[in-house]
Amino acid sequence: MTARPPVELSIIVPCFNEAGNIQLFYTAICKVLTDTAWEIIFVDDDSPDGTSRIVTSIAQQDARVRLLRRVGRRGLSSAVIEGVLASTAPLLVVMDGDMQHDESILPQMISPLRENRQDITVASRHMEGGDSAGLAHRGRHLLSRTGIRLGQIFLKHPLTDPMSGYFAFRRDCFSQALPKLTGTGFKILLEMLLALPRSVRMGEVPFVFRERHAGESKLGPIVLFQFLGMLVERVIGHIVPMRFFVFAFVGALGILVNLAVSEGARFAGLGFGASQSTGMVAAIITNFFLNNCLTYHDRPLKGWLRLSTGFAVFMVGCSLGAYANIGVAEMIYHADRHWSQASAAGAVIGVVWNYAVASTLVWR
Ligand code: GDD
Ligand code: MN
Repeated sequence: MTARPPVELSIIVPCFNEAGNIQLFYTAICKVLTDTAWEIIFVDDDSPDGTSRIVTSIAQQDARVRLLRRVGRRGLSSAVIEGVLASTAPLLVVMDGDMQHDESILPQMISPLRENRQDITVASRHMEGGDSAGLAHRGRHLLSRTGIRLGQIFLKHPLTDPMSGYFAFRRDCFSQALPKLTGTGFKILLEMLLALPRSVRMGEVPFVFRERHAGESKLGPIVLFQFLGMLVERVIGHIVPMRFFVFAFVGALGILVNLAVSEGARFAGLGFGASQSTGMVAAIITNFFLNNCLTYHDRPLKGWLRLSTGFAVFMVGCSLGAYANIGVAEMIYHADRHWSQASAAGAVIGVVWNYAVASTLVWR
């Protein structure tokens, strides 16, 4: 029996609904990487468009192509981590499966790693020779730039594009970062960089970010929100949990909803009491659903039964919280404090109480 030569490079490709791009991606890799023993691992989160069927049909023709299919899970970062863990080659590259990442620079990215002159190569859209033409619209450009600025503030390494989703690295450098990777969100490179010592050897190669071939982008507002969360968590996470801030932020939105709806109800002719109650109920409902998809996005309540019991507990808990809020505020006000101090203290007690109820009784 003759053994196949060992794989030198594992190409990790997270994909969700990329059925229209897989074949093209595979052909492009075959064409450009002729002097490397490579493998491609497509990490598919059970895409409804049949991505995994297409990968399977290619893998049955070419053993260098592998499928890692995850069922019941979603997420770009965790897909990348699991893809890396499922492979063994000494060199790795992470690439999007939608043809936005120009494969022709791959040899240039890997050669310094191969020669052990470098630990990480980042493909950059923002250095001389690079371009982010493929970012769908101006809003995305602005977001991308803001993200990069924020990322750079936290980094010890000067990089022009720390938010790139296209990068190559040596396996030992990944292993070193692994204990600190959270696997949430989509900024896996940034997380790796934050976890690595200053001594890590880095390089960048410019590339032009192309238009997506088929399908659409999956990076929506929730993913961006998680990214900001990750940065805040890094700074103050060890003092107060990030979840608490998200919870308080959702609570503040609730106050706005309350004001808007009760004003609206009054305008529509409802009495004072009825308007107040309508506003209150609207706020509790919005808060409940926002908490379910933002604050507790990692353990949301699903199904009618769990949602409705959860909602009932949340409603009762928050009403008690409102009593505590008013009670404390009155107490402090009577102790001769200014009313603004009194209501601030009340609000703090209220939000801490509600947070405790939500985290222990509702989203357990
Ligand atoms: N397995 C899996 N699970 N793959 C996913 C998921 C997921 O939940 N979400 C997205 N992907 C895959 C997509 O199928 C694609 O191959 C790749 O991850 C990038 O997703 P896109 O939705 O195409 O992202 P984008 O083009 O908007 O964003 C790109 O630019 C960002 C910087 O502006 C990506 O390269 C990002 O990584 C990069 O940070
Ligand atoms: Mn894309």
